[in-house]
Amino acid sequence: MLSGKNILLGITGGIAAYKTTFLVRLLIKAGAQVKVVLTESAGSFVSPLTLATLSKNPVLKNFVQEDKESVDWNNHVELGLWADLMIIAPATANTLSKMSSGTCDNLLLAVYLSAKCPVFYAPAMDLDMYKHPSTKATFETLEGFGNIMIPATSGELASGLHGEGRMAEPEDILTFLQEYLSNGLPLSGKKVVITAGPTFEAIDPVRFIGNHSSGKMGYALAGVAADLGAEVVLVSGPSHLSAEHHLITLIRVVSAEEMYQEVHKHYDQADFVICAAAVADYRPAKIADQKIKKAEDKLTIDLVKNKDILLSLGEKKKDQYLVGFALETQNEIENAKGKLKKKHLDAIVLNSLNDEGAGFGKNTNKISFIDKNLEIKTFDVKTKSAVAVDIWNEILKRKDA
Ligand code: PMT
Repeated sequence: MLSGKNILLGITGGIAAYKTTFLVRLLIKAGAQVKVVLTESAGSFVSPLTLATLSKNPVLKNFVQEDKESVDWNNHVELGLWADLMIIAPATANTLSKMSSGTCDNLLLAVYLSAKCPVFYAPAMDLDMYKHPSTKATFETLEGFGNIMIPATSGELASGLHGEGRMAEPEDILTFLQEYLSNGLPLSGKKVVITAGPTFEAIDPVRFIGNHSSGKMGYALAGVAADLGAEVVLVSGPSHLSAEHHLITLIRVVSAEEMYQEVHKHYDQADFVICAAAVADYRPAKIADQKIKKAEDKLTIDLVKNKDILLSLGEKKKDQYLVGFALETQNEIENAKGKLKKKHLDAIVLNSLNDEGAGFGKNTNKISFIDKNLEIKTFDVKTKSAVAVDIWNEILKRKDA
């Protein structure tokens, strides 16, 4: 969400300034471009060289760049226009008060006054300063200006006292920004449950029945949903993939029964559910306690049917928009339509192993999206991320229709 965003970080003179080195790293890791503006006193708490190295940009402090041969005017107006977001962290009582009164006696304040983008500030001060009526009045004034406070937390303060006034941790500032940006996205405030990957059905302590699903399709659907602002629960069978997005909760399971239990735990709260997992239809009737020894030429394993997770969801569906997948090898369209009806789905995504570039393991897929009116839309071979975008576009068109 922060990828490609221009972020101006204003650092003022408080001990929490040392933590901004971590904040810069997190912002850069999230794909943002960062420029840092320091007040004079902030430079005593954190090294401009460290910040310049981490942000990959010169650190700005004065209206005029004195270290250059030619005098360079640090254009605060240009900086203010460049930024998509401005964050002032730590924001001291002194700087906050100047922001509220329009005082403009350093570069940071001039940039603040020029900024047209959303401005966030993370206060940091001692507990009595934080509680003081003038500080509270400053917060109210800044709120009136549309500035957004990233509240201070409680804990041990630099003075040795305990209380409110600690700057929010860099990770929490990052989460705060990401949540702010995700509001207003098509899926913000929505809950999504996605199944992904294979299931493994144990035969004995070392063997299982499984399949070739890598999880790529389901993880791509989860990633796109999170990018669209949804809170995602991703229930995944064994897969080497990971899900880094802060809006994705990854629940790892092994067997179909575990997947069934986890999906049902989250089903009632879900707005959208997509079952992309390749769930084993059968499991061994008994799991041997010990490794089965090689003895006879033939070994017979009795299998019993697993619960059909998707069918069970269709049967208890309320307002959820429920999407299944169909992996077919013959009579593709007819079989997919049959599953759509039988499992009470709103839509089904058909992929056929007869199509080059479709199916298990690969980075690509080729799908047809079939909705409950049996309207079919067929797409070209695309990366699984692009396929996930197509699927979400089709769902969103229909859910709001
Ligand atoms: O993971 P990848 O390597 O990226 O591969 C992606 C994929 C090929 C696994 C994926 O695109 C896909 O097709 N997933 C569904 C595979 C499948 O099991 O299809 P099916 O036609 O057997 O099942 C129909 C639907 O019922 C599926 O939504 C399946 O999740 C669901 N099902 C099936 C059996 C069962 N016991 N419970 C279920 O919920």
